Amino acid sequence: MPATLLDGKKLAEDVRSGLGPRIAVLAARGIVPGLAVLLVGENPASVSYVTAKEKACAELGMRSFERRLPADAVEADIIEAVREFNADPAVHGILVQLPLPKGVSESRVIEAISPAKDVDGFTPVNIGRMVIGDPCFLPCTPHGIIKLIEVAGVATAGAHAVIVGRSNIVGKPLANLLTRKSINATVTVCHTGTRDLAEHTRRADILVACAGVPELIKAGMVKPGACVIDVGVNRVDDPSKAKGWRLVGDVDFAAVSEVAGSITPVPGGVGPMTITMLLYNTVESAERPA
Ligand code: GUN
Repeated sequence: MPATLLDGKKLAEDVRSGLGPRIAVLAARGIVPGLAVLLVGENPASVSYVTAKEKACAELGMRSFERRLPADAVEADIIEAVREFNADPAVHGILVQLPLPKGVSESRVIEAISPAKDVDGFTPVNIGRMVIGDPCFLPCTPHGIIKLIEVAGVATAGAHAVIVGRSNIVGKPLANLLTRKSINATVTVCHTGTRDLAEHTRRADILVACAGVPELIKAGMVKPGACVIDVGVNRVDDPSKAKGWRLVGDVDFAAVSEVAGSITPVPGGVGPMTITMLLYNTVESAERPA
């Protein structure tokens, strides 16, 4: 039996409709949640992510502020732009689109973001709070994945979750969230140094692919009935398309759908949830007393 599709687009719409009334309450107080986006360079994927985030803000009646810097911008200019957003009272959330150009320290730029406006949940302060379990902005992709797993009705307590990928944005924070008492999964994190990847993935009740490798996860690597979450967004050449490329995830979707119990599509799975949790964090930030 083919897997149940975990519809991230639909769940994202549900979460966004829950934000509508909160935004209306803020509006009555004269507050419009504002998200500031800083984009350095013209990486096509980054441009399209940023455009999608700004469009989502507009649809919910939120404001977005965009600052674009050229690919050869120096670190000091990028940090200065972040500081201007930190100081702007109309800005409740700041997003520095990653990756940054080579030669720019992502750590130093991220550390310049005020933790109170760090709606991506990337600053060391917010990551530390997340690990301890203190109130903080949770990183958007892991937070969105947790929501997708919850609505899938997957029993997480005692389940074995295997994460393929150890990035700061997804793999590492997700591993931490899945081990929270309220979720109670047992987590294995696989990475480029893992000896026999399939041996681990085949033991996963919940398998999260976030390696950035097109269609890395094949049907034979998946336990029958597993919940499969595909975080990958990869452009692969496809001369049959007008654009010359198509998007694929880190999972061989067609084949794995025949084995898994539930699976996220690409696009329409994790992506819309990432944007939604960003809006969610921005509204939370706007609700906080100044
Ligand atoms: N690049 C890829 N994913 C993300 C994300 O979630 N936030 C930011 N700021 N940059 C990214």
